[in-house]
Amino acid sequence: MTYTLPALLYGPKMISRKKGLFLLFLAFSTGTLLLRQSAHLSWFPKSPSFSCGPLLTSSRPKHTAVAFLKTHKTASTTVQNLLFRFAERHNVTVALPHHACDHQFCYPRNFSARFVHPYTLPPRVIASHLRFNHEELHRLMPNDTVYITILREPVAMFESLFSYYNQYCPAFKRVPNGSMEAFLDNPYHYYRPHEKFAMYAHNTLVYDLGGDPEHNPEDPSYLPRFIRQVEGIFSLVMLAEYFDESLVLLRHLLAWDLEDILYVKLNMRSPESKLNITSARVAAQIRVWNALDAGLYDHFNATFWRKLSQVGQDCVRKEVEALHQACDRLAHHCFGGQPQLRPATQIKNKELRPWQPSAKVDIVGYDLPGSGPPSDELCLKLVMPEVQYSRYLLRKQSMKNRRRSAAHRSIPPRGLLRPPRHPIPKVA
Ligand SMILES: *[C@@H]1O[C@H](CO)[C@@H](O)[C@H](O)[C@H]1NC(C)=O
Ligand SMILES: *[C@@H]1O[C@H](CO)[C@@H](O)[C@H](O)[C@H]1NC(C)=O
Ligand SMILES: *[C@@H]1O[C@H](CO)[C@@H](O)[C@H](O)[C@H]1NC(C)=O
Ligand SMILES: *[C@@H]1O[C@H](CO)[C@@H](O)[C@H](O)[C@H]1NC(C)=O
Ligand SMILES: *[C@@H]1O[C@H](CO)[C@@H](O)[C@H](O)[C@H]1NC(C)=O
Ligand SMILES: *[C@@H]1O[C@H](CO)[C@@H](O)[C@H](O)[C@H]1NC(C)=O
Repeated sequence: MTYTLPALLYGPKMISRKKGLFLLFLAFSTGTLLLRQSAHLSWFPKSPSFSCGPLLTSSRPKHTAVAFLKTHKTASTTVQNLLFRFAERHNVTVALPHHACDHQFCYPRNFSARFVHPYTLPPRVIASHLRFNHEELHRLMPNDTVYITILREPVAMFESLFSYYNQYCPAFKRVPNGSMEAFLDNPYHYYRPHEKFAMYAHNTLVYDLGGDPEHNPEDPSYLPRFIRQVEGIFSLVMLAEYFDESLVLLRHLLAWDLEDILYVKLNMRSPESKLNITSARVAAQIRVWNALDAGLYDHFNATFWRKLSQVGQDCVRKEVEALHQACDRLAHHCFGGQPQLRPATQIKNKELRPWQPSAKVDIVGYDLPGSGPPSDELCLKLVMPEVQYSRYLLRKQSMKNRRRSAAHRSIPPRGLLRPPRHPIPKVA
């Protein structure tokens, strides 16, 4: 019996849920093969007209070893999705968390190579949440790994953290009426440095990057030293405010194609869930409270603009324009226009419903048009939320790994890890 891809994805209702998931997985794998064989997709321009001088990338091979430090509330889910899709298309292994670590690498603990699922070794891409620990990543990743991350302007970022984690972070829960103003008027009244989830309330960027969020901001030597460390490791620090420009820099750094940086924005809140900071006083308080993050951001914002001018403002402008057009074409191809953001409860396909941090925040997502099948696998992946995509990749890579080890009787490639304590997830 043969099934078409759509039939597999949205097949007869009688397919049980478990069986359905397995078929979904099979369909994905088949789809991936099909995609690899079609050199060009119809919506993609045949000859992109870039003329960015010395940075024209076609002469270099694409770089495929990337460690992305996924920071919190910084558009990093969109970057992760793009890296997952890149890895699949280029057949490179993505490091994924061990089951015991959830879909993050046991964040907020310091990253350890032990947190990596053995069936995702040796990886060339890593892009899930972790607290940065260079030594352990260095042990895990190939020696040609390029390190990248993304930062966000601290005022907008704090507002986002405050609303997203209002039910998780005790510092935020203690505040009467959930008032951010009340919190900022006297943060130490609510905040306890070493309690659970404290890192979402104070200098979260510095924490994620492995620094000390509690360090006295008056110490003139700490931040410059920390920044030098970050600069010594990360080849590119992207900025959420200049997302498309960041992707253009990424493309140049890694010698990727325009096709490799296409995206749809993921893991966003509904407008009603946002606090809309309009007061200069509140903004200033946020910067004072997160002084280390603010200093970090300002530094990397300055270097970002220097990098842009090295590539050439005109070149960047042209590429950003080309990126918009290609994203629009892709959106048209997948959704018949710009995709409609919906609350999770209105998304028919469960695999596309984003995780909701609490009843007080709406994380919106996308559905594919109509009740029919998606036109192709790419469209589905493009809007697949983090948790589902991570789970899917783990199943896919586990199967590949099992096939490989059955053929060669050799597991795992590096003596880094103990054998898995948990059974491999069943797919059927
Ligand atoms: C993907 O990589 C595996 C080895 O990791 C190799 O056996 C396989 O042929 C590759 N497939 C493609 C399509 O490149
Ligand atoms: C985690 O890393 C930080 C920063 O490097 C360090 O100060 C701290 O001691 C580490 N924690 C543990 C439990 O190893
Ligand atoms: C990277 O590792 C390979 C072998 O694993 C080695 O041949 C190569 O010299 C290393 N390169 C650098 C820059 O250390
Ligand atoms: C909380 O809200 C109530 C009613 O809206 C108000 O009376 C009270 O003063 C508020 N408390 C604080 C600390 O803002
Ligand atoms: C914030 O602004 C958006 C649009 O500007 C609006 O839709 C939303 O309701 C506002 N949020 C709050 C909490 O007022
Ligand atoms: C980043 O730096 C540029 C150039 O100095 C400046 O115009 C811009 O306002 C800064 N952006 C933010 C969000 O601070």
